[in-house]
Amino acid sequence: MKGLFITIEGTDGAGKSTQIELLTEYLSKKGRDVLVTREPGGTPIGEKIREIILDTENSEMSDITEAMLYAASRAQHVNEKIKPALLEGKIVICDRFVDSSIAYQSSARGISRELIEDINKYAVCGITPDITLYFDITPEEGIKRKKNMHKLDRIEKEKEDFHKRVYDGYQNLLKLYPERIKRVDASQSISDVHKQVIEYINKIL
Ligand code: TYD
Repeated sequence: MKGLFITIEGTDGAGKSTQIELLTEYLSKKGRDVLVTREPGGTPIGEKIREIILDTENSEMSDITEAMLYAASRAQHVNEKIKPALLEGKIVICDRFVDSSIAYQSSARGISRELIEDINKYAVCGITPDITLYFDITPEEGIKRKKNMHKLDRIEKEKEDFHKRVYDGYQNLLKLYPERIKRVDASQSISDVHKQVIEYINKIL
């Protein structure tokens, strides 16, 4: 792969979107060809799957259905968008990827990590992030921020202990993949968080 694959992770409300905008601006100014995308979604088919997953009316959705829908959205995304962009040499910035499924569907929902990794093996076709920035903020602070922004979706509406398990899941991933996953202190000001992001990205460029 000629390009660079950057994924952005964190609990809900960690401020990923603002930082992705700032990073994109920074890289574009440097003359880099950047593709910004997100999960679940990123393609017309993926966005339809996203609607099903996040719809608050779908309260009966089983955990395994949820896990497979995230992976289905990802499979389409990798094949239609991410892989071609990387082959063209672009920098791809993806808001959430497989680590989200480990944190949410495995650590928080309780599906085994092996099963989530297995399903996702089929979805990603060998594509793995070159670097993952993990935006670290307490789940309480994150949900407080989200509540101030919009109506909560099906996942955000989960109880406090669900978000705590997602948080613990990410802490575990940080320990498992210290080479790939870099911790960003997301409790700082927007400009200070941006500085941390730039430092990590410049190291890998
Ligand atoms: P989104 O509105 O994109 O949340 P955020 O802005 O916090 O990224 O909604 C995506 C939700 O889906 C979010 O709560 C995390 C969850 N999710 C999973 O549970 N598993 C996954 O594999 C992915 C990609 C997201």
